[in-house]
Amino acid sequence: MTAMERGYEEQSESAGSKQELEQIEIELLLNGVHRLYGYDFRNYALPSLKRRIWHHVHAENVPSISALQEKVLHDRACFERFVYSLSIPVTEMFRDPGLFLTFRQKVIPLLRTYPYIRIWHAGCSTGEEVYSMAILLHEEGLYDKARIYATDMNARSLQQAKEGVYEISKMKQYTKNYMEAGGTRAFSEYYTAKYNSVILQPYLRKNIIFAEHNLATDTSFNEFNVIFCRNVMIYFNDELRDHVHGLFHESLSRFGVLVLGSKESIHFTRFSDSYEPLDRVEKIYRKNQ
Ligand SMILES: C[S@@+](CC[C@H](N)C(=O)[O-])C[C@H]1O[C@@H](n2cnc3c(N)ncnc32)[C@H](O)[C@@H]1O
Repeated sequence: MTAMERGYEEQSESAGSKQELEQIEIELLLNGVHRLYGYDFRNYALPSLKRRIWHHVHAENVPSISALQEKVLHDRACFERFVYSLSIPVTEMFRDPGLFLTFRQKVIPLLRTYPYIRIWHAGCSTGEEVYSMAILLHEEGLYDKARIYATDMNARSLQQAKEGVYEISKMKQYTKNYMEAGGTRAFSEYYTAKYNSVILQPYLRKNIIFAEHNLATDTSFNEFNVIFCRNVMIYFNDELRDHVHGLFHESLSRFGVLVLGSKESIHFTRFSDSYEPLDRVEKIYRKNQ
């Protein structure tokens, strides 16, 4: 073996042991968080989890994942920032307008036949998706017979969702989304502007119940005609995704509708045969029975 080859070998060995060390530190951090606070991130998809953890190491100005572990376990405020940073609360009103348009066309007619409608938005973040649904049901004359359950593991996001206050600068994009989603009114009817913010009309909140619920650790809590869980399970590994699909299958009524995000699918889960696609492109599925 030449000196250069020996050099490469040593380098790759040290890269391997660095990776192993990182893996051990991540496992210790997540085990500690689970044992102390009950939040279970152990089955989140590793690549994005790693990125978020390193991002948080830098944000907390600590030198390593082990140092972050110490801070998170000893300082509740640091733990809360950690949960917030792992939760990726990105969302918008009428996100993926084509989905909401298709929902109007294909799901609303089914919902009209029910005396009472229960909808669960699992992983609702700061509430934009939930209020979009409230507006849609209101326009279709179904809001009064609906209850919307809006849940997330992130208490800070839920608090904002309850308040229904958003930046005015986002309204241009939301108005565009609303129109593309089949909205027929002036979107500005749904909010009152105040300085740099808008507050959504209180009547939209009337039938929404906001609650903390963790998909990794909490159980089913009701039976629903529709479950929205969009852009949440992309952050989970196969095991957790299967677990959550089990929870949804158990929570959906007969012929209940499951709506996933644009990059998600029911295929390759153990429930793929339990649903029929109502719209393959928009990821709208109907439970077989
Ligand atoms: C990217 S946002 C998606 C928001 C919205 N559904 C949408 O598509 O616009 C992901 C949300 O999932 C929530 N989340 C992540 N893991 C969760 C879990 N185990 N239980 C409940 N919510 C979770 C996060 O807190 C975050 O608010």
